[in-house]
Amino acid sequence: MTAATTDAVLRLVGVTQQYGVGETAVSALAGVDLEVARGELVAVMGASGSGKSTLLSIAGGLQRPTTGEVIVEGTYLSTASPRALAQLRRRSLGFVFQDFNLIPTLTAMENVTLPLELDGFRGRVARRAGKDALASVGLEDKLDAYPDDLSGGQQQRVAIARAVVGGRRPPADPRRRAHRCPGLRHG
Ligand SMILES: Nc1ncnc2c1ncn2[C@@H]1O[C@H](COP(=O)(O)OP(=O)(O)OP(=O)(O)O)[C@@H](O)[C@H]1O
Ligand SMILES: [Mg+2]
Repeated sequence: MTAATTDAVLRLVGVTQQYGVGETAVSALAGVDLEVARGELVAVMGASGSGKSTLLSIAGGLQRPTTGEVIVEGTYLSTASPRALAQLRRRSLGFVFQDFNLIPTLTAMENVTLPLELDGFRGRVARRAGKDALASVGLEDKLDAYPDDLSGGQQQRVAIARAVVGGRRPPADPRRRAHRCPGLRHG
């Protein structure tokens, strides 16, 4: 076992994803092996339709692959219960969605602290962590603003704060190391 294997926070083994059946079937991922070490920044690059979003959804436990295994911090997602998966997503994974997915009726602070509150953190502790996370993206003066009152870039920063609040690690969202994903369709 290499050092990278022991320290891996994310492993994909032989992951495939097929959409549909028969003549119209699409093979979005054709056997992806990937290993990400703690603290490593990974970017996934590829042409539109090459399978990036599919790969990230599967790596983040939002979608089950057709075949293959995903292991996040030692947890095999294929056998994890829905409850364990939800907990893992709340505690270990942070997503910045393309359209941010902020809840329009909640303030910036409330959007950011929601995952902590769902996890049972006391309001005061959650608010302190929320304030730190929003300050870290330069939004300390927008704690009480609603998404509609923020610019696109500010909304994106709220989404980033929500993805990292409470010390969670940002997701393997990005665009590097495509060469290590031989199963990713390029184009
Ligand atoms: N739910 C689905 N049903 C059928 N086909 C799908 C579905 N989702 C994705 N696909 C197909 O799977 C392939 C990979 O899609 P995916 O969304 O992962 O690509 P992507 O690399 O994220 O593209 P983009 O850069 O445009 O966001 C595409 O051919 C797409 O049409
Ligand atoms: Mg995409």
